[in-house]
Amino acid sequence: MKLLITGSSGFVGWNAVRYFANQGDSVVGTFHTFPHYLHHDNGAVAVRLDLADRTQIHEIIRRFQPTFVFHFAALARPQLHNSPEQLHAVNVRGTNDLATVAANHDIPLIYLSTDLLLPSGPNPIDESVAPAPPTHSLYAQSKLQGEQAVQSAAGRWAIIRPSVMFGDGTPHTNSFTQFIDRCWERGEPAPLFSDQFRSFLFVEDVFTAIEAIIRTESWGGIFHAGGEQCLSRAQFGLAWADACGVPHTLCKMMAASQKTGYVGGASHIDLDCRALRQLGWEPHSITDGFQQTLRRRGGGR
Ligand SMILES: NC(=O)c1ccc[n+]([C@@H]2O[C@H](COP(=O)([O-])OP(=O)(O)OC[C@H]3O[C@@H](n4cnc5c(N)ncnc54)[C@H](OP(=O)(O)O)[C@@H]3O)[C@@H](O)[C@H]2O)c1
Repeated sequence: MKLLITGSSGFVGWNAVRYFANQGDSVVGTFHTFPHYLHHDNGAVAVRLDLADRTQIHEIIRRFQPTFVFHFAALARPQLHNSPEQLHAVNVRGTNDLATVAANHDIPLIYLSTDLLLPSGPNPIDESVAPAPPTHSLYAQSKLQGEQAVQSAAGRWAIIRPSVMFGDGTPHTNSFTQFIDRCWERGEPAPLFSDQFRSFLFVEDVFTAIEAIIRTESWGGIFHAGGEQCLSRAQFGLAWADACGVPHTLCKMMAASQKTGYVGGASHIDLDCRALRQLGWEPHSITDGFQQTLRRRGGGR
């Protein structure tokens, strides 16, 4: 495959470049600010892209003519308080422009959305449940508008809504396990919300989901992607502490509302991933995902 992966300097994109380039795919990865972490000695090419610049989008597609576009780039950190204008320019208009150009070139596009646009509740949610992004989350609203832009571009597309993903990244990325590790590296307890429940997903499971979608040509589909267990951030953090041999005293349980400056509160988003499972997809267990992450640190593949 000849892949254009947007957001390759980010957590998911960086892992994607490694995953796909290591198995022989030809990869062009885009960055916005941090290019140097793209080099994996596996032939991947790094190109700068500002999604807010339509001309650059046209130029990159014209120049590289990929067989698939994996669109991961976004203003993806809700706690950074990006303005509505910034979120719209990158997450909505940028996605719309990219999806339109890809459709015009007949290139299938896979868009990474988020589970945060789904309603919170005690029961597992499958793809038939209507999105309901919380009013306080401009990020979740922008991701829903991104989904709508992808759908209206009328090309071949698929949308994946992953839960919180974990695994290693670069010094500039901030997966949930990296966030916890950094607290521990400073000798501080990691603040872990006991009232936010999510279907934590090992990052590479997104890539096997993409492979399943491409293999079955399941275009026009929306796919939930979460791990088997729905855990609170606190339960997840304790399990990660156990895997790393870190004492539980370095895990500080709290309600989301207790963290100063945090936007958002208690939530329960348990993903039912039946659409992906029908394609034969199976995510790692949390324990396996932890083991893979730790094995990579030891130099394993
Ligand atoms: N991480 C999760 O747990 C999670 C969960 C659900 C959904 N998602 C979705 O998954 C995708 C990847 O998330 P992530 O965690 O990898 O995010 P991330 O680490 O913050 O990476 C975001 C990427 O987008 C790029 N970017 C930012 N502004 C851009 C612009 N104006 N033009 C072009 N590229 C721009 C960044 O480039 P620079 O870093 O070079 O500036 C970076 O490569 C996002 O779409 C996010 O909504 C993530």
